[in-house]
Amino acid sequence: MKTLLYSPVWFFQLFTTAKSFSANPILGSPLLNRLGLHVLRVVLAHAVMQLRLWLLHWHIDPADRQSFREQGFILKPDYFPAEDFQRMEQELRHYQGHSRTYLQGDTRTLRTLLAPEALAQLPATRRQLADPAFLRLLCYANGHQRHPLFNTEQIFNGERGGAGDDPQKKLHVDTFHPTMKFWLYLDDVDAHNGTFVYIPGSQRLSWKRLRWEYRLSIRARTLPDLYATRGSFRVTEQDRLALGLPEPRAFAVPRNTLLIANTFGVHGRGPANPGSTRLALWGMGRTNPFIPFPGTGLPVFNRLQYRVLAWLENRK
Ligand SMILES: [Fe+2]
Repeated sequence: MKTLLYSPVWFFQLFTTAKSFSANPILGSPLLNRLGLHVLRVVLAHAVMQLRLWLLHWHIDPADRQSFREQGFILKPDYFPAEDFQRMEQELRHYQGHSRTYLQGDTRTLRTLLAPEALAQLPATRRQLADPAFLRLLCYANGHQRHPLFNTEQIFNGERGGAGDDPQKKLHVDTFHPTMKFWLYLDDVDAHNGTFVYIPGSQRLSWKRLRWEYRLSIRARTLPDLYATRGSFRVTEQDRLALGLPEPRAFAVPRNTLLIANTFGVHGRGPANPGSTRLALWGMGRTNPFIPFPGTGLPVFNRLQYRVLAWLENRK
């Protein structure tokens, strides 16, 4: 009965960002994935995102485009003018707004949403977040003209009460399609408070990567890692070598560095000392990777997405 009821939903999800092999029996079907369902979604999503990146590439520095296309990340130190950065950093460090907290292993993440109502109290931050070049770069990397949802993200390492290993410290890929996350660091980050780790070039859809995706998709539902069964494959050292990828790079960077990464590439959180912390302005883009249209860029949709998020959270 449940199957009958949910089948249309599961089918509809094939055309969305849905990625969980365990939650959706169609996505997780060993037979359909042997026939190529998962790799078909990977290839189609990449083709569409290529088109959207091309549509949004005007006015983007060619060096940034090249880095994002070839390495999978854009790294820009000293991003905002020092005084503007300092004003924004002071506002965000003391701002206490609507927060959500997540505990993964012994790492606690505190995210505070920077909705338009919040920015009304944060004039320096509002000014920086309206910077046209900044927004253009984020929209380009996201392949969509809607802005990402802005948050502050504070990480607390080695939290007491947390159990087990932090799953984000294992190298992994987030999902089956190109997708963007960004950090504008408000603290210096290094090995003591944990860096972002990324394998340069691992976002490229090589033949080896496609074969790896294909093989894993067939047994995805029964993989030992819970996150892998939900569509975020883990990457072992053996996988890295089989994929012909270089060593991971740890991004130890000073505050006021902007880092944008395509998290279809292999990445993770670097190790950190217990008791350490780091603060960043953070955001991610999740847009439907099968829709070739890169959005309208109308401000109403940027505002609306915060309302939709609030509504979804109130339903829980
Ligand atoms: Fe991730």
